[in-house]
Amino acid sequence: MALIQDANMFPRDFAWGAGTAAYQVEGGWQADGKGPSIWDTFCHEKGRVFGDQSGDVACNSYELWERDLECIQQLGLTHYRFSLSWSRLLPDGTTRHVNQKGVQYYNKVINDLVGCNVSPMVTLYHFDLPQALQDQGGWKSPCIASLFESYAKFCFQTFGDRVKLWITINEPYVCAKLGHEDGIHAPGLKEPGVTAYLVGHNMLRAHAMAWHGYNSYFRTAQRGLVSLAINSDWIEPLNTHCEEDIAATERYLAFTLGWFAWPLFVTGDYPEIMRSAIDAESKKLGYNGSSRLPSFSKDEPTILGTADFFALNYYTSRKIKQGEGCGNILCMKSDRDAGEVLDASWPICGVSWLAVVPDGLRKLLKYIKDTFKNPAVYITENGFSQVGPLQIEDDQRSKFYKDTIMEIAKAVQADRVDIRGYFAWTLLDNFEWADGYSVRFGLYHVDFEDEKLSRTMYQSGREYSKIILKHKFSQ
Ligand code: GAL
Repeated sequence: MALIQDANMFPRDFAWGAGTAAYQVEGGWQADGKGPSIWDTFCHEKGRVFGDQSGDVACNSYELWERDLECIQQLGLTHYRFSLSWSRLLPDGTTRHVNQKGVQYYNKVINDLVGCNVSPMVTLYHFDLPQALQDQGGWKSPCIASLFESYAKFCFQTFGDRVKLWITINEPYVCAKLGHEDGIHAPGLKEPGVTAYLVGHNMLRAHAMAWHGYNSYFRTAQRGLVSLAINSDWIEPLNTHCEEDIAATERYLAFTLGWFAWPLFVTGDYPEIMRSAIDAESKKLGYNGSSRLPSFSKDEPTILGTADFFALNYYTSRKIKQGEGCGNILCMKSDRDAGEVLDASWPICGVSWLAVVPDGLRKLLKYIKDTFKNPAVYITENGFSQVGPLQIEDDQRSKFYKDTIMEIAKAVQADRVDIRGYFAWTLLDNFEWADGYSVRFGLYHVDFEDEKLSRTMYQSGREYSKIILKHKFSQ
């Protein structure tokens, strides 16, 4: 590709990062006054997680943070994305009681990063709701939005002098669907066709209230940016000449990326295709309640414009065909009526859902530019998993990173997408939710059999650090 030159492929201050999330790495689930979260509860119930594993200890980053910092420095990262455990800071979820040990821990992490010239990107919520709030209805309860707003303000107040990039909520789609429709993530609710929409709605309300709080009280002094991380695959019709497949693709997109991006970036409300599909299915099944997709109240802060950048988590691509319901019961699958197909030419890495399609990322970035008014974009997650025998010389993952970063360069140079940074998922092998420790996404291997939890850089870590070095020097 003629346009791609080796030097200056990326903007001067491009963020080269990697990410983690509190429950996946910290351990210390009861240490120093931390309250339980829904993931603690979920993992302690038998049969929920692969091998009944849990994040009780995980990578023990709560005690081994300095070792993580060494990894971050060895890689040469300019940015590090991590999440705060809400119940480590506020054990019952409210600001009535602050756990100072939790504050100390995150202050140390942030100060160490800043001291090493690594900018923190901080996620306030990465799947681990305080159990005390779940007991009051969790994300189903409308009250959760103002509780989240108070938590967010507490974090801006406490850490915002040093943190300039904030993600309020990670992947509301995953929290809503996997946690409340499919029941395979905490809190493990299986309430298809209703609860996920309510949860997604309260997450958007919570996010918007937090953003407005930042805007009104902290932005002038702190000068940071706040967004919400949206996961999306790149999707295309299975048969590009088939009207039904084309319509199914639009519907699928409305129920995934559009569900959250449309309210934030386009209209302040859900995509019309989504609402009409849900209402039509309700009618078909004789569901008499009000629309299962809630409406935003005019008396609450607006949703539109409450993202200072587009935070994208991209892992894979899909072809879409019409039709995939669950029979005569309410469920999201029937509402969206679109099935996913894997292209046989796409290699699968590790887990079955993860087809390796680096150029899907470029296409998605272009779509985001065109659809959402050319926003600044951070790719806040992207990665490659390994299962089965350990391979420190992970050639395939190394190639994956090279190919992916080349696609991003094309998106920057040829498509002129305003991409500000890339965060590999993930710094360390860690607790991969329902898959426990059986799936490894790390740039560092963690030996979970070894009581020291030793960290060893994968070949892909070396590859990524070479890429970073090359581009940092061209800045
Ligand atoms: C994302 C999630 C991460 C990580 C990743 C790999 O959905 O935000 O925590 O687990 O998937 O599966």
